[in-house]
Amino acid sequence: MQLPIIVKRPFRIIAHRGASAYAPENTWAAFKLAVDMGVKDIELDVQLSIDGEVVICHDLSLERYGHPGYVEAMSWAELSQLDMGSWFSPYLFHGEKILRLQDLFKECGSEITYHVELKGKSDKLPGQVCRVIEDFNLGDHVIITSFSYETLERVSAIAPCLRLGWLVRKIDDDVLSKARALEVFQICPRADLLTKKAVRLARSVVPEVRAWGVNGSREEVLALIQTTIDAGCDGTTVNWPDWISH
Ligand code: G3P
Ligand code: CA
Repeated sequence: MQLPIIVKRPFRIIAHRGASAYAPENTWAAFKLAVDMGVKDIELDVQLSIDGEVVICHDLSLERYGHPGYVEAMSWAELSQLDMGSWFSPYLFHGEKILRLQDLFKECGSEITYHVELKGKSDKLPGQVCRVIEDFNLGDHVIITSFSYETLERVSAIAPCLRLGWLVRKIDDDVLSKARALEVFQICPRADLLTKKAVRLARSVVPEVRAWGVNGSREEVLALIQTTIDAGCDGTTVNWPDWISH
């Protein structure tokens, strides 16, 4: 297949954890690369440090990144010292730092739509994330996502104007009725489980359907991207944001 796959706007090409196929996920290196590729949508994962900073990190444990301990058990002073790049490539990314949500907002401002996934377990996470968004007046540039419907309910109670994206495996009747009840902005099904019919149904309930879980071999990834486009999705996360273009 010829690259990049061309798709019509306003399909969202969402750099998953930044351009995470090419640089350590959720770091400035990965976000900057995505921006340089012309991407306007970035997905990222957030958790709360023990002293209440909203930090950008996917795994709860730091083991995969080469460190002991858990994000939520550490202070920002401790987390900010970690090398988050060497696990990916010591030559290219040694010393890459963990970021806070506010650091990314400071760098990219309103140039980007941020798909902020609430990953951490702390009860205080939704409130702290909403506070940072408000501090930067970036509510119109954020979609809050979660696999947890209860977490999205909490966000909605704190900041009713924020757009919500509900991460689910499949679109079914239960998902549709709960999405309607909470007035979520996006239903986000797994790319390999979506069908044209389900996407059409979901779009009669919510403004957007965007996919996730675009992984596998090169051929599998390209086929999944094409599936999301053919099914009528409004976007997808992708670790290779340069493989799709408008
Ligand atoms: O966009 C959703 C996707 O990021 C969810 O999976 O594990 O990459 O956070 P994960
Ligand atoms: Ca995520």
